[in-house]
Amino acid sequence: MAELRDHPYRQVERGAPGTLGWKIHYYSELDSTQQVAARLAAAGEAAGVTVIAESQTAGRGRMGHLWFSPPGVNLYLTVVLRPALAAERVPLLSLVGGVAVAEALDEHAPKLPRLKWPNDVWFGERKAGGILAEAAPSGSGGPVVLLGIGLNLNLPADRLPAELAATATSLLIETGRPCDRAALLASLLSRLASRLAQIESAGFEPIAPLWEHYSLMTDRQVTVRDASRTISGRAIGIDKQGALLVMTERGTERVIAGEVRIEAFGR
Ligand code: BTN
Repeated sequence: MAELRDHPYRQVERGAPGTLGWKIHYYSELDSTQQVAARLAAAGEAAGVTVIAESQTAGRGRMGHLWFSPPGVNLYLTVVLRPALAAERVPLLSLVGGVAVAEALDEHAPKLPRLKWPNDVWFGERKAGGILAEAAPSGSGGPVVLLGIGLNLNLPADRLPAELAATATSLLIETGRPCDRAALLASLLSRLASRLAQIESAGFEPIAPLWEHYSLMTDRQVTVRDASRTISGRAIGIDKQGALLVMTERGTERVIAGEVRIEAFGR
């Protein structure tokens, strides 16, 4: 699908190459913003270049899920990051992205956003957004991360497909007010730039309490499934490496990957 030069997010572009959002590529429809961002990264485009699609035909979620991406209502974007981080810290970027997303949403709907480990954004008891951090070939050395963010913003309840009606929501559904998507993007890029600079200079330690502040999991009963095991217990927080800590009958378990179900919510 052709790129559109005149677009609603042009006003959000700012700064020199390397600044998050210095260049925003906008398409009315893409398979996935992750794919176009991967091509830009491989071609050596500077960090901060951002791809937005009005709709996606094959939006990707974690664990091979499809990301519901209808036009005209939501935000689907990928930011190319070239973080100055050791390889073992790169996975923390999905948590850092979650904090930035929650902070940006908090500016627009105070106290509404919550984070579910590792990378979901929830409003109340339903999912409203997700973050997908994927490593990519860089084109010019150093780690490259494609930080994909999908947020349900102005999606009305009657456009949610039946299979998502019980588990998904949007900012409009929760607040009754439409939001200015360009303004939200501007907040998001600015929060993300600050948190990225913070993890690069000071590590994840100062960011972990912010993640905890937005967490909807602490003290809830959870079940975690990964490829090799299922654990049940009480979520007690995250550690400095971003692992989820679950208090089980056998003691505290560190979870570094997997699908988490919050038992009291029934999902
Ligand atoms: C998840 O919760 O499973 C993560 C969802 C991430 C969806 C976004 S939408 C923009 C970007 N492009 C994609 O194909 N996926 C991410």
